[in-house]
Amino acid sequence: MFSPVKLGELSLRNRVVMAPMTRDRAGPGDVPTEIMVEYYRQRAGAGLIVTEGTQPSPAGKGYYRTPGIHSEAQVEGWAKVVQAVQDEGAQIVVQLMHVGRASVAANKDPNAETVAPSAIPCPALIPGPDGVPRETAPPRALETAEIAGVIGEYVTSAKNARRAGFDGVELHCASGYLPMQFLSSNSNQRSDQYGGSLENRIRFVVETLEALAAAIGPGRVGFRICPGITLNGMDDANPAETYAALLRAVDGLGLAYVHLIHIPLPDEVDALDLVHANWRGPVIENNNLNLDSAAAVLAAGRADAVSFGRAFVSNPDLVDRLRTGAPIAKLDRATLYTGEGDDRRGYTDYPTFGQTVAEAGQGA
Ligand SMILES: Cc1cc2nc3c(=O)[nH]c(=O)nc-3n(C[C@H](O)[C@H](O)[C@H](O)COP(=O)(O)O)c2cc1C
Repeated sequence: MFSPVKLGELSLRNRVVMAPMTRDRAGPGDVPTEIMVEYYRQRAGAGLIVTEGTQPSPAGKGYYRTPGIHSEAQVEGWAKVVQAVQDEGAQIVVQLMHVGRASVAANKDPNAETVAPSAIPCPALIPGPDGVPRETAPPRALETAEIAGVIGEYVTSAKNARRAGFDGVELHCASGYLPMQFLSSNSNQRSDQYGGSLENRIRFVVETLEALAAAIGPGRVGFRICPGITLNGMDDANPAETYAALLRAVDGLGLAYVHLIHIPLPDEVDALDLVHANWRGPVIENNNLNLDSAAAVLAAGRADAVSFGRAFVSNPDLVDRLRTGAPIAKLDRATLYTGEGDDRRGYTDYPTFGQTVAEAGQGA
């Protein structure tokens, strides 16, 4: 866990990855804020940080106060985050997250549309600006001729990411957002070359990954999948088949990694087995890991790196804690997405283990 590893062009000094986590702390114009710089700097003990989901366009935004990477101000804001993290010796990639139909209109620019592969609304409720879950906006189905433009927004964002200094990008293909809406049989009812057959349903993701690879180099492009997840109304008829086909189609591109959110699949197919059967590139394993399970999956050669989400929220020094066996602090769910302006609570005020011990000493 504490040895260096290469994932494509990314050089990690350890195999601990901070998983992408939406925290809703961007400022006006969806620009990364100073407290975001501090938050990521505190967690730069990781070998690699994957940022929170970041929209490649105004239409790609679905949640309140998520950052973008399509305007110059956003690029400048991210450049400060990147510099802070790289100064600490970690690598950092931006997660490109276009939510498609999983979007609340009040969370985004009034002129921004809601688009999806098909005009089928997302059945899930998503928090609005007040944090209360509400109905999503009904999507308009993308015209065939528009799809190249959506892929182009991802490409421009990836180039912006490199200008901001990011080491690469991660394409978010999980959680029921736009790429997964193309992949899943129930949300993709198209009759053109982007829908219908298995080959057609994977085309959007394959073409997007090819375009990202061509723009910034394949070794700087990773992608995230979660076969079988039902979040945001996903109900693929055969996830094992869908993801086997996707992985095989992009295996030859030389991408940096696949980032697996590992959940049980129907028919006793193990998702990590499925990845290894169809993909020869680096693998980041995720979901509910602890020190022992993470060490075991690495020792077995089943993953090249492991990622932690929630543990990184409440343990800025997570890598040190894993290394020394120090206790892992619990997170406060109530402050995951709250705070206006420079409110640090639940964001940058989690202490390191050393600070906890020092405070306990003072109290005694
Ligand atoms: C607050 C929060 C926000 C999240 N936001 C994202 C996100 O923006 N993109 C994404 O791919 N996953 C997101 N996730 C999922 C995490 O990356 C991770 O897969 C999940 O927390 C499981 O890992 P863990 O058990 O180590 O927490 C989020 C999870 C949490 C807790």
